[in-house]
Amino acid sequence: MIIANTISQVRDQVRQWRREGLTVGLVPTMGYLHEGHGSLVGKAAEDCDRVVASVFVNPTQFAPGEDLASYPRDFERDCEILEKQGCSMVFHPSVDEMYPDGNGKTDTYIEILNDMPKQLCGRTRPNHFRGVCTVVGKLFNIVLPDKAYFGEKDAQQLAIIRRMVRDLSYGIEIVGCPIVREPDGLAKSSRNIHLKPDERKAAVALYRSLKIAEEMASDGEKSSKAVTDAVRAEIEKEPLAEVEYVSAVDSLSMEPVETVGKGTLIAIAVRIGQTRLIDNCVL
Ligand code: PAF
Repeated sequence: MIIANTISQVRDQVRQWRREGLTVGLVPTMGYLHEGHGSLVGKAAEDCDRVVASVFVNPTQFAPGEDLASYPRDFERDCEILEKQGCSMVFHPSVDEMYPDGNGKTDTYIEILNDMPKQLCGRTRPNHFRGVCTVVGKLFNIVLPDKAYFGEKDAQQLAIIRRMVRDLSYGIEIVGCPIVREPDGLAKSSRNIHLKPDERKAAVALYRSLKIAEEMASDGEKSSKAVTDAVRAEIEKEPLAEVEYVSAVDSLSMEPVETVGKGTLIAIAVRIGQTRLIDNCVL
């Protein structure tokens, strides 16, 4: 596996692959990889001749006071996982390589101006998706992949990236991959490492609450209020859990819905101690 730290190294290598007629898949990550990322790389390796994964903790998607500094990092371990899953090249740039103005700042952003980035996580993280779109757009411009792979756990991010790709005519196929869970149902996340043992047990409440939403919907419940109230009540049984939001939205537009049905996304964000977790299911 090639380790590239500069944009020009990536461009030169991808150009070479293109000359050989090979297809290229991109898996953008912030590192500290787990089986969820592994499944994205595995899928990309199945679909494409060459896979580029980026490992970059992107400062423009963190607000001051968020966990940019404490975001977990272990590049050596990341490389082992990537290589095992069939990654051909890992792009691991410095902050200055990606943001040449220094200090992770930029004057040019990609921003979706409708309400999609304002819903769900956007309520407490107002500039988060502007930072995500900007870095993902830059990665698309650097790698010029045929396909790019994102996890369905970040359902709002996935919907926003699909919209960005459509609106800016990127011509890249966006592939969403299913949530990978621990045996007890907790969605795999790089941030799970921060959970203390009692918090780790409490975190299963997120999955339990989503199962209730699925059961209610399959029993014919149509009221989004009834479903989201039941989800919230289940999480709130857990004293260590503090609900940030429980929402029922359209899975493409992220617009809140009054009636749940096929294609409704039930999305939740919960703080367990210092750790913010998100999870979701599509009914
Ligand atoms: O989902 C993530 O890990 C990040 O938001 C992404 C897509 C790699 C952009 O920094």
